[in-house]
Amino acid sequence: MNTTLTDKAVLVTGANRGIGRALVAAALRRGAKQVYAGTRQPMAHTDGRVIPLALDITNRAQIEAAARAVGSLDLLINNAGVRRYDDLSDRAALEAHLAVNLFGPYDLTQAFLPLLTRSHGAVVNVLSIASLAALPIIPSYSVSKAAAFSLTQNLRPELAKRRDQVPRTPARHLRRAGSHRLVDTTRHPPNGWNGSSRKQIISNQILNDQERRYVMTSQDFHSTFTVPQSPEEVFAAITNPKKWWTGDIDGPADQIGGEFSYRYGNVHYSKQKVTELAPGQKVVWQVVGSHLAGPQDPGEWTGTRIIFEISGKEGQTQLRFSHLGLVPEFECFDSCSNAWGFYINGSLRRLITTGEGPATPPWA
Ligand SMILES: NC(=O)c1ccc[n+]([C@@H]2O[C@H](COP(=O)([O-])OP(=O)(O)OC[C@H]3O[C@@H](n4cnc5c(N)ncnc54)[C@H](OP(=O)(O)O)[C@@H]3O)[C@@H](O)[C@H]2O)c1
Repeated sequence: MNTTLTDKAVLVTGANRGIGRALVAAALRRGAKQVYAGTRQPMAHTDGRVIPLALDITNRAQIEAAARAVGSLDLLINNAGVRRYDDLSDRAALEAHLAVNLFGPYDLTQAFLPLLTRSHGAVVNVLSIASLAALPIIPSYSVSKAAAFSLTQNLRPELAKRRDQVPRTPARHLRRAGSHRLVDTTRHPPNGWNGSSRKQIISNQILNDQERRYVMTSQDFHSTFTVPQSPEEVFAAITNPKKWWTGDIDGPADQIGGEFSYRYGNVHYSKQKVTELAPGQKVVWQVVGSHLAGPQDPGEWTGTRIIFEISGKEGQTQLRFSHLGLVPEFECFDSCSNAWGFYINGSLRRLITTGEGPATPPWA
């Protein structure tokens, strides 16, 4: 891709901060003659080539006014986006994401198409790895970015007919530019991206730290055991961590939305929020805070998820335990895996099968 922007006119939405601001700076560095900076709030810039545009991308009147104000355009960068945490229970939250992340780029593209057609210009949609792999803690964002990905793919042949282009940017260019978090997913998955390897490639090369914690890989810590007790008995034991997790536990673990902390001396602190509680079937804890002694990043656990899946198996009950995000890249992976091995296969299993409280851990 030719990344020279000499004498080109560029429009960046969401230009006042974050990646948008960096894109404005990059366009200036690459010789753009004009950079239209679309923002919701008034913005000033020291470089005379930057022309501020009042542009809320959900406001059709502002989009039309912007299209009238811009004389010519070579590159439209749909960067503005929203990302909020939700659980898909609120339709308004989903609509708000779609309004900005899907319909915003759609309306902008339609409005600027005459100018882009005239200049044989290009459209760049800033997507996300969430366009390809759902990130369950931000599902509305994932839905909207997946839809924007599909919009991008579907627009390409349409725009090609008009001799516009939607450039395909190899991921290596994005990484070299230091924007590994920007994903131009307008291309088809590259060679080698297939079912089993795809998540791994995503996890290793493109995801930022926060996102990596929500995409399950085969490297996440798992442990499974089977007991003769009923699914309800297994569920009751899991939701009473004081009986199987040694250390100080404070707060409710048996109600949805409940938060409880776990502290083991100065070695381990973590706070878990109960995000799913299906009696006899499933328990999910979101780690909302942590401080571990040892790793350079003591907050390694924060943002990870702890999942207990209960199912019937040949007249018995199987418990599959997963710590999503606890992967070998974590400094605490070995010690945490050993500790989980003790608590899950030792302590929790013992509680379920004998009713006895926590055993003394080998490291105590
Ligand atoms: N950061 C990441 O890790 C990451 C990863 C993957 C993809 N992305 C994508 O990259 C893009 C930029 O992300 P970022 O991290 O720079 O986000 P950011 O720091 O949150 O900035 C978002 C920008 O979008 C603007 N915006 C939001 N709603 C708008 C609306 N209705 N009309 C016009 N502008 C609006 C914001 O303006 P205000 O200042 O007025 O709110 C702000 O300028 C987004 O599309 C995002 O989804 C980011």
